[in-house]
Amino acid sequence: MKTKVLMVCLGNICRSPLAEGILKSKVDPDKVFVDSAGTAGYHVGNPPDHRSVAVARQNGLDISNQRCRKFSSIDFLEFDHIYVMDKSNFSNVIQLANTEDDRAKVKLLLEEIDFDISEVPDPYYGGADGFEKVYQMIDRACEAIAKKLT
Ligand code: 4NP
Repeated sequence: MKTKVLMVCLGNICRSPLAEGILKSKVDPDKVFVDSAGTAGYHVGNPPDHRSVAVARQNGLDISNQRCRKFSSIDFLEFDHIYVMDKSNFSNVIQLANTEDDRAKVKLLLEEIDFDISEVPDPYYGGADGFEKVYQMIDRACEAIAKKLT
């Protein structure tokens, strides 16, 4: 059976699509299923933000086929690990948990590495350099997750 990992942010157009694409590139797809979702429904059905698509492309990944979806409590049944980008995502996801098992699946992404900050900052209102910084921190965390899962 595959291990299932869900990456979650607010909009599911900037950070979690990068996390989905990056982790997918580091794991065996026969063993690990990776998806992403947003706690808000502002952009459901849309592709990732063009700045995330661009920074992924610069780093050799194509995330343009992803489509935004909203996180739901059903995801707790489907997924083994739910990684959130920031503490606000954490509380939004935890609010939808029904059991202690559900809650135990939720973790801040950057807790997987020894890093000077605990949250992946939201790059939505900033410039392209914010997207590159976010890419690099997500990449480091995904490297650690991929090592644990293989
Ligand atoms: P994300 O960034 O949570 O990394 O996808 C955001 C995307 C859109 C919005 C906020 C954050 N928004 O307010 O539309």
